[in-house]
Amino acid sequence: MEERITFSNNGIFISFEGIEGSGKTIQARLLDEFLRKKGYTVVLTEEPGGTQIGLRIRELLLSVEHQEMTSVTELMLYNASRAQLIKEVILPAIKRGAIVITDRFNDSTVAYQGYGRGIDLNLIDSIDRIVTAGLKPDITILLDLDVKVGLKRNRGIHKADRLELEDKAFHKKVRNGYLEIAAKEPERIKLIDASKSIEEIHSKIVSIITEYIAQNGS
Ligand code: TMP
Repeated sequence: MEERITFSNNGIFISFEGIEGSGKTIQARLLDEFLRKKGYTVVLTEEPGGTQIGLRIRELLLSVEHQEMTSVTELMLYNASRAQLIKEVILPAIKRGAIVITDRFNDSTVAYQGYGRGIDLNLIDSIDRIVTAGLKPDITILLDLDVKVGLKRNRGIHKADRLELEDKAFHKKVRNGYLEIAAKEPERIKLIDASKSIEEIHSKIVSIITEYIAQNGS
């Protein structure tokens, strides 16, 4: 069998973040493909979802039938999905020395439920500490894009889910939230202009990640 590269200490944990239509799902897949071709052991996952329980929670969260869902219910469900994903997928893979790529992680909760819905950021942080026990991505790729452009892009691809149906003002708050989070942690969060072409964005991401691996991977 072909020998795959793993890291002898812990693996590397990468998250992708951004508003609707920012292209993070495509970019996460392209990075996964690139790293696999290089021989690394990679686990690609997503939030909400990534486990059997997480996928059921995802359905609850995104169904357009659930318009009555309260912000607190939403906050708890995203965190419940995350707790399951960390236990079943992320931690075991990191311990095996793999590279874990997740399409969204806890910055999404701060951006959407915190800045978007207006839930107190300290409360979000308290719940986060229970759920993640301090686990943070080593590196986060934040794809930044104008809200109008993002929503228009997405409309062409699939039917809008419950959160996509929120108005532009909500998504603007989410985008600004992301920018504030990025400003607080410039070391971890790499801000990328998502209005560029898929290829340009991919090559930028590849150079960020290969540099990170060269400096930190062992
Ligand atoms: P997706 O569009 O990337 O599949 O994500 C599903 C939706 O869930 C998207 O509208 C963002 C939202 N979301 C939150 O509101 N909070 C969270 O913590 C996460 C992970 C996603």
